[in-house]
Formats: sequence, structure tokens, C-alpha cells
Amino acid sequence: MKFFVDTADTADIKALAESGLLDGVTTNPSLIAKSGRKILDVVAEICAMVPGPVSAEVAATDYDGMMREAAVLQKIADNVCVKLPLTPDGLRACKTLTGDGVMTNVTLCFSAAQALIAAKAGATFVSPFVGRLDDLGQDGMELIADIVQIYDNYPALTTEVLVASVRHPIHVVQAAKLGAHVATLPPNVLRMLYSHPLTDKGLAAFLKDWAATGQTIA
Ligand code: G3P
Repeated sequence: MKFFVDTADTADIKALAESGLLDGVTTNPSLIAKSGRKILDVVAEICAMVPGPVSAEVAATDYDGMMREAAVLQKIADNVCVKLPLTPDGLRACKTLTGDGVMTNVTLCFSAAQALIAAKAGATFVSPFVGRLDDLGQDGMELIADIVQIYDNYPALTTEVLVASVRHPIHVVQAAKLGAHVATLPPNVLRMLYSHPLTDKGLAAFLKDWAATGQTIA
């Protein structure tokens, strides 16, 4: 499973990229707004730090506007992935951009039918939002299961399932068990994947015992 980080905070991205475990980055208009920076500057900085796909979302809602903005975003770097909303215009733009060899991420997916049509439009990634469905009392992970099953039925559909709106490590584990290709994680959730109190406790005990030996490994 690929791990993307869902943030526009370049300090966080730099630290996480140093782990060597980061496969890409996703941003959205809300995350860019939170950064307080200009989208072109932030995306350029991220693309230089992370070689994998970096999703940058259009703000236009009509096809022509989306295509104009996509052209600007594409110019930033080769690893820009143009993020488009799951609307008729967004899918039309997705189809055109995919035909031009541009990476695309179709976002705001909340149903299996939407995921199916995004794949028909040739999206590189589709982003179902599990956390926002959970918030409504629906099971976001059921949607992931449905999409994975549908895509598996049709090998010609090459769209990757990018699990978004992830809130905790259990989402990641469940999505991995279902065979989702990618999870995009807020930085705090990505860091949580490392954590277990028994790891900390065990390491402290090992270090204490080791110190008592007086040895060094050299
Ligand atoms: O970037 C899309 C998605 O991950 C947003 O998540 O937490 O705003 O529902 P959230």
C-alpha cells in the first residue's frame, strides 16, 4: 500500500519525506488556505521534496476553467497530479487530461457509482472520503470494499483507490486489508502508525540492560 500525506505544511512534509516511506502528497483548497501560502509556491516546494504524485486541486467548476487551471498546475513539475471534483465537468476534464498523459485524482467521492464513473473517465486515482462518511453514521470502509470489488471485476479499469479523509490508524489497516492501493494520511495519523506503548517499554528495557553491559558496538 502506498502512503501519501494529506497536508500543505511543507515543514511536516520535509520531516516525513526524510523517513523514505512517503510515496506522495495530497492537498486540497482547505489545506492550501490553512498554509496561508500561494498554491503555486507550496506545490512547487512539495514537488521538489517528494518525487511521487503531488495532488493539486483546481478551483474552477467549469470544464474550460478547470482545463486552464490544470495547464498552470501541470507546469509546476512533472509529478503534479491534477485533482478534480467528481462532477460532470470534473470528469470531462479528467478524461481529456488522462488522454494527454496527465495524472489525475478525482476527489469528493462518496459512492461506488461515482467511483465507477471516475474510473470510466480514466482517473489515475479516485479519492473516497471515509471519515466524512463515518461522521454521518455511514460506514466509510464499506464504500472502500465496494469500490475495490468493482474495480477488481474489470481489470481494464486502472484507477487506483486512494483512501482519503482518514482519521486514525484503524482506517489505514482496514483499507489495507481490503486491498486499497493508497491511503492519504494527515501527518499526525502517519506518525501514529509507528506507535505502540509496548515498543517504547521494550526499547527502554533493552537500553537499560545494554547500558549495564558497558559494551559499545563499534
Ligand atoms: O484531502 C481530502 C481529504 O483527505 C480531506 O479529509 O479530514 O477534511 O475530511 P477531511
